[in-house]
Amino acid sequence: MELRDKKILILGCGGMLGEAVFGHFKKFAKVYATDIDLNESWLHYLDITDFKKVRELVSQISPQLIINLAALTDLEYCEKNPLHAFKVNTLGVENLARICKKQAIPLVHISTAGIFNGQKKEYDDFEIGDPINVYGRSKYAGETSIKEILNDYWLFRQGWMMGGGPRKDKKFINKIINQLKNGKKELYVVNDKMGTPTYTYDFAKVIEKVVTTCPYGTYNSVCEGGGSRFDVAKVILTGLNCKKIKIHKVKTVNLKKFIREDYFAPRPRSEHLLNYKLKLFNINITRDWRTCILEYMTKFDWGINSKEIKEKG
Ligand SMILES: NC(=O)c1ccc[n+]([C@@H]2O[C@H](COP(=O)([O-])OP(=O)(O)OC[C@H]3O[C@@H](n4cnc5c(N)ncnc54)[C@H](OP(=O)(O)O)[C@@H]3O)[C@@H](O)[C@H]2O)c1
Repeated sequence: MELRDKKILILGCGGMLGEAVFGHFKKFAKVYATDIDLNESWLHYLDITDFKKVRELVSQISPQLIINLAALTDLEYCEKNPLHAFKVNTLGVENLARICKKQAIPLVHISTAGIFNGQKKEYDDFEIGDPINVYGRSKYAGETSIKEILNDYWLFRQGWMMGGGPRKDKKFINKIINQLKNGKKELYVVNDKMGTPTYTYDFAKVIEKVVTTCPYGTYNSVCEGGGSRFDVAKVILTGLNCKKIKIHKVKTVNLKKFIREDYFAPRPRSEHLLNYKLKLFNINITRDWRTCILEYMTKFDWGINSKEIKEKG
């Protein structure tokens, strides 16, 4: 599908991924971006669970492509609020798929490595989900409804998201950096949870490549390589030049002894994805996750200025 000068409606564009996707697609297409969190002047209000409002806006704009990034992604919040999780991550998506079908608009939707049970070491694009928490179940049900309702969709499964910088990054990287900003001199990080980061800035380019050159279907899209949360934290410290911080490997069952936050939602042991289809179509433009973290650490001012944590140990 040709995208140049086309009208693209992006939903849930105020988050981590939205920052990169908006920045990339606005270079060559006419983008109309929406969210419920109006944290940018270019965002318009739209709640994807409001079927009538979504249908009205889609009719009014008549986009040639819809990209849905809207989701509830906090695992603990989803565990505590399953009805809200299914309302947004499943029913909102199902309604959107029906609107896309009725108006003959192809849909890009984002799923997650969190739909797997984590018992296997790695997951290629052809694996079937078996989620172990509410977030994973609600996302997998969203995936399934798209596949049941639509033919014209590109569904991407992503890994541990990194992007958006200090203002928008809600996930692991900013959580580690916030611990440093709060004066922590020692970090305790799990080394029995494996996965692959997805760098939003590379991923935005992958979406464009797939939509313009590949058939409809499901695509894994993560950085190259895999590692544990501990491995990721070590590269963050390298990228920030924080040489004085001590970092300890911890097993998930013992994490509560060392940190205040309670990550009570069950998490898959492995969320390591393999980009088989991007490789088969010869468009695997994603880079090694370590390279991407080092780039990400220099892309923003993370507010880590303390001489004490940056000086040579
Ligand atoms: N983050 C990850 O590690 C990760 C990994 C794999 C896949 N994904 C998937 O990638 C996609 C983008 O996630 P992200 O990391 O960019 O998450 P994000 O930063 O939380 O962005 C999602 C945006 O959707 C908004 N939203 C929530 N409910 C909505 C509703 N009812 N209507 C419209 N917008 C709504 C959120 O607003 P609020 O902030 O106010 O809730 C937020 O601005 C999601 O499909 C997610 O499941 C994420």
